[in-house]
Amino acid sequence: MIGIFDSGVGGMTVARAIEQLCPDLPLVYFGDIARTPYGSKSPETLVRYAQNNVDFLLAQGARLIVIACNSAASTATDALQQYCTVPVLDVITPAVVKAAEVSKTGRIGVIGTRATVRSRIYSERITALRPEARVFSAACPLLVPLVEEGWLNRRETKMILRRYLHPLRRQQVDTLVLGCTHYPLLKQLIGPRIGSRVKLIDSSVVMAGQVRDFLVAHPDLRKRLQNTTVTENRFYVSDCTDIVEETAARIFGRPIKLQTVEL
Ligand code: DGL
Repeated sequence: MIGIFDSGVGGMTVARAIEQLCPDLPLVYFGDIARTPYGSKSPETLVRYAQNNVDFLLAQGARLIVIACNSAASTATDALQQYCTVPVLDVITPAVVKAAEVSKTGRIGVIGTRATVRSRIYSERITALRPEARVFSAACPLLVPLVEEGWLNRRETKMILRRYLHPLRRQQVDTLVLGCTHYPLLKQLIGPRIGSRVKLIDSSVVMAGQVRDFLVAHPDLRKRLQNTTVTENRFYVSDCTDIVEETAARIFGRPIKLQTVEL
């Protein structure tokens, strides 16, 4: 199985994109709702949480791990790659490559949680690929709680977005990385507020492409992932509310059975 984790429901946007691109491969998802948000946690705590999540996914039979959380990926990818005996892919790498590739002016905006922006990982890695690029980052700490609350089309959410995006508009970015897997749920609101000519890089879509390409390059692993008695994708959370169920159903376009586990 492909094991995917996030701090909450955001990583389900990644799980959904992988499901659409690789429908024959079973997934196991873990959303750490009880400990969300990750974006305000210290690097040490993030590494510990990420290791707990991976232990759980490996115990469920995961043979490939996808870190579907930018906050965890920005801090814990190296630690997890050393810790795990199976390959670990992170959501940041494909978004960096895509942003560096599609930006015409080299003026690239990144929005993410405080942890992701504090790590400076996007600006360092984008400028490593395109040294002339200028990367403008904005931490948007209120967005994850708004998404987790299901406030996806509220006036207040629009106002907050306008406020967060204003400095990036002023910098005239031509590309904006949605550097948090919760943000694809706000894509319809972000587009008009950053400007219709700005290209949005949706980390869930690029991550799914990265998983597909990785498995094309590793056909043995692909066979092992296919070779399982598991027929249904499994979704686990460390806490569950009606809103979480609603958001999961909205992401997948069907009801999702969420099983609550304590790590
Ligand atoms: N979806 C997570 C990310 O990509 C949200 C992090 C959080 O819980 O703050 O960063």
